[in-house]
Amino acid sequence: MAEYLLAIDQGTTSSRAVLFNLQGQLLASASETLEQHFPKNGWVEHKPEDLWGSVLRCCQQVLAKQQITAAQVKALGITNQRETTLVWHKSTGKTLYPAIVWQDRRTNDYCEQLRTPEFVELISSKTGLLLDPYFSASKIRWILDNVPGAQQQAARGELAFGTVDSFLLWQLTAGKVHRTDATNASRTLLFNIHNQQWDPELLEVFDIPASMLPEVMDSAAYFGETEAALFGQPIVIGGMAGDQQAALIGQACFEPGMAKSTYGTGCFLMLNTGEKPLKSANKLLTTIAYRLDGKVTYAIEGSIFMAGATMQWIVEGLKLLRNAGESETMVQHVSHDHGVFLVPSFTGLGAPYWDANARGAILGLTRDTGIDKIVAAALQSVGYQTKDLQKAMEKDGLRPTVLRVDGGMVSNNWVLAFLADILGAIVERPDNTETTALGAAYLAGLHCGVFSSTAELAKLWHCERRFEPTISASERQQLYAKWQHAVAQVRLPSN
Ligand code: G3P
Repeated sequence: MAEYLLAIDQGTTSSRAVLFNLQGQLLASASETLEQHFPKNGWVEHKPEDLWGSVLRCCQQVLAKQQITAAQVKALGITNQRETTLVWHKSTGKTLYPAIVWQDRRTNDYCEQLRTPEFVELISSKTGLLLDPYFSASKIRWILDNVPGAQQQAARGELAFGTVDSFLLWQLTAGKVHRTDATNASRTLLFNIHNQQWDPELLEVFDIPASMLPEVMDSAAYFGETEAALFGQPIVIGGMAGDQQAALIGQACFEPGMAKSTYGTGCFLMLNTGEKPLKSANKLLTTIAYRLDGKVTYAIEGSIFMAGATMQWIVEGLKLLRNAGESETMVQHVSHDHGVFLVPSFTGLGAPYWDANARGAILGLTRDTGIDKIVAAALQSVGYQTKDLQKAMEKDGLRPTVLRVDGGMVSNNWVLAFLADILGAIVERPDNTETTALGAAYLAGLHCGVFSSTAELAKLWHCERRFEPTISASERQQLYAKWQHAVAQVRLPSN
């Protein structure tokens, strides 16, 4: 009897496979770190064989760990780092170039060439996004321009484009299926989020043949079946969503006004706006939260590029700690107002600044600054950036009724206490912080009838700990003003 749901969570820094029972309880997981490649300043790449190889090994490991056969898995859900772009040959599956990762800024100049107020408005009105190298379209353009013969092959219909979800689906089905879901499509700059179609006008501007694009499905749908040889027999692939949207689902933010913030490589604060695609006047994104039974739920999103990745730099780059887990003990005695600020604009600044040229800085150093304050500043940068997003949302007239947090960093209580203080809001951590994988499993479970509705899923969410603000409004205001001053230092005057 099929008693399990399997989720693939292919993230920026790691791949995971997580096994859940039919009540959504986590039973086992397997993960592998993903190697990052930085060939030039501002470039970030992944090897396609690492993406696929790590996912396959994780799935096989997690099944072996629990001694489970593919026949016992009711369905598989896929969730993934979004926007990251791959192009491959339809006949062989061979990729033309490494995956260009969402953080990669190589197409900044190209985006600037396209920038006119009219085009920015066109993009925003159709896709809900901004003109920025973050999204897939300019990355596809770069591959077609820079791999010899690629544009001609694309014009002949020989090439396929996919974000990581599509690429994994292609691999899992041995090249039989080229599909994506509406959430992932909504991050490409090519998808009209209102009529749910690839947009011919945008395809023309970016000169991308429609034949390259995957078919867009609901987030809970029949995507195909895994090739029998991979796991002994086929598994139905029934769910798919970009990782931030999957986390929103895993956090059961199904009502308008509910929000979650995920602290993985980056940080993404997403607020459910229901059936309405609200437009931000403060450089937040309008995106698809999920599409179920053809019905679209929208969200407003603030995207920050560096959260856990800042701690990765502290650990692996500066070697100030042996692992990120050590940070909580190290900063325990550090007060919030210690005067050091780390602005982690290593690959530019995301929302609400969208400044691709900003670079990182540590400010406020004095003779008594030790490792502890630098680590504290790195941890606090995550809270301050979330505050930036909260401010932008407030200017748009949106105030989350609840902020649910997840991702690797939220096991750090010091970080969450600071987050509640700087936001002046209650922060809730769920008992299951593997919410991204859980969201993918929920989608797969919705498809195959394990769960009947989002209302049923909402009942499965439990709070493990609430963090309440402890500082005064004026203390908060003073801290935040200093952060804003620090951010201003890393930006060129024109931005
Ligand atoms: O938009 C990029 C995002 O999907 C990456 O997520 O979890 O890999 O930081 P993560």
